[in-house]
Parts: sequence; C-alpha cells; structure tokens
Amino acid sequence: MEKKRMLTGDRPTGRLHIGHYFGSIVNRVKLQEEYESYLLVADVQALTDNFNNPDKVRKNVREVVIDYLSCGIDPEKTTIYIQSMIPETAELTVFYSNLVTIARLERNPTVKTELAQKRDVFGESVTYGFLGYPVSQAADITVLNGEIIPTGEDQEPLIEQCREIVRKFNSIYGNVLKEPKILLSKNKRIKGLDGNEKMGKSLGNAIYISDSPEEITKKVMSALTDPNRIRKDDLGNPDICMVAYYHNLFSSQEEYKNVCEECRAGKRGCVFCKKQLANNIIEFLKPMREKRAYYEAHPELVDKIILEGTNKAREEAKKNMKRIKKAMKLDYFE
Ligand code: TRP
Repeated sequence: MEKKRMLTGDRPTGRLHIGHYFGSIVNRVKLQEEYESYLLVADVQALTDNFNNPDKVRKNVREVVIDYLSCGIDPEKTTIYIQSMIPETAELTVFYSNLVTIARLERNPTVKTELAQKRDVFGESVTYGFLGYPVSQAADITVLNGEIIPTGEDQEPLIEQCREIVRKFNSIYGNVLKEPKILLSKNKRIKGLDGNEKMGKSLGNAIYISDSPEEITKKVMSALTDPNRIRKDDLGNPDICMVAYYHNLFSSQEEYKNVCEECRAGKRGCVFCKKQLANNIIEFLKPMREKRAYYEAHPELVDKIILEGTNKAREEAKKNMKRIKKAMKLDYFE
C-alpha cells in the first residue's frame, strides 16, 4: 500500500529545545517510519513576525535543520526543505486569498493568541502578512498534497482553516485538492525552568538540544524549587519543584520516586538533587550533542540535505500547481 504523505514544519526563529523535542520531534521521528514525510523550514512564515530581523531567520534555518538531524530525523525518510525556495507556495497563497475573509482570519484562535503575545512587534495594528499567514500555511500543505498534519492543539485552528479553504476551492474549481487531516499529538507541553507553563526561547527558560554540559548544569542550578525549603532538613514539596518535574522526564522511575520521597522527608539537598538531574540531562542529550558536532563540522553535508530535499519538494509543487492552475483556467499556452 502506498504511504500517506505527512507534512509538518517550524518557524526557524531559534534553536530547538527539549520542549520541542518531547512536543513534536519525538513524534516526527516515529511517524517518519509510517508516512512519506515532508518537513518544512518555514522561513517565510518566520518573517511574518520577524520581518525586521532577517539575519535571525537566516541563521536559524541551518540551526534548526542541524537540530532535526541530531534528534533522529532521517533525510532518507523525511524530505527537509526551505519554504521560500518553493515559490509556488506564494503563488497559491494569492489564489487562496480570495477564498477567505478578513473577519474569518481575525477570528482564528491561533492568530488571536499569537497577536496577544506579540504586542511588541505589532502594537495595535497587525500586518496583512501576519493576519494572512494561515492562508500561506494552507498553501504549504496543499501545494504538496499533504494529507496528514501532526500538530499540537495550538495549531489545530490553522489546519481547520486550511480544510475550509480546500472545501471552498473544490466547490468552485472542481475536486482538485485533498483535505488534510490533523493528527493531534497527545504529548504534553514541557514547562520552563522557571515553572512557566511554556518553555520558550523568548522566555529565557529553555534547555536547548545544543547546550553544552556546562550550560545545562548552570541552567539546572537556577531552576525553580520549592520556595519554602531553605535548609536541607526542611520538608519539601516536589510537586512545586521544577527539578523534581524534570527528574520525572530524564531520570529512571526509581530515581524519581527516591527524589520525591527524600525531598518530602527533608533528606535530600537541593544542590545534590540538581547536580544529579543535570548529569542525567547531559547524558540524555549526549548522542544528540555528538551528532550535532558532526554536522557542524560538515556543513557541506547539511547543504546537500537541504538542497536535495528542497529540489524534490519543488518538483512536487510544480506538478501540483499545474493541476491547480488548470482547474482555475489559468493554463494559458499549455
Ligand atoms: N505554523 C507552524 C509554526 O508556527 C509552522 C508551519 C508552517 C507549519 N507551515 C506549516 C506546520 C505547515 C504544519 C504544516 O511553527
């Protein structure tokens, strides 16, 4: 049986952290065995809220690809490609812009949430490009005939918007586009070192895949612990301690149980507990760190992977665009 096509992507605005790792990367590494996988580095989308910072986007394209490769995304199974190098996407975005109203975009919950977080970028008035990014995301998906879109809940409204555009398109121009399905990830979101619900680069509370052992130790040492626990023999509450929270992710179940019991009984010092955690995280990330060092030393290999992936995606996009333009009666001189 032919494999279904899966498509996902990220905005390259920073290196990937362990929140990304547990949130989406692990999933993609698993799913690449089952689906024909496309992974897009969404540089055009990154510019919608970083238009005044092209250097940042440019630099992070390569960083994100190296992170993917280090975490087990296999270029033999997953086509990694750069969004801006598929100009058909931009063309399709223009066609789709007739099929969606401004009011509908303004009501999109993902856009609304993000706008609330990006007051510093947009102030009171949002750009046409940012408001319209769900339209270009619909183009990303459909220009490659993406069928399965694995994402978290926060992205669900974007895929729903894409499905609406597809239905509208098909009702006017004929049954040409595939309606993608969302594959909702049940992975929970990883909290930040400061106890924030979200780990994020802008929040300064993240451990990156690329962090050195020294950086990891330093960050873990600064993690939020039970504020009422001042001396070692104070009885602690691991439920409000980020060190215990990460022990649950990076240490064995037995170790985690010990951490909680000893903390509650006042038999475990925070410094010791943090050192132990830092070592476990360093050990966990070791294979990724080693692969990363390898790719950093071989930039020509990374270039080759990006170029081959992008060429393959481009051929596919061209083919689909031909069908789409034919359906729209834009196939002059064909
Ligand atoms: N919106 C995604 C993000 O914020 C990136 C993205 C762009 C994407 N195009 C996509 C995800 C298509 C899935 C499918 O990171």
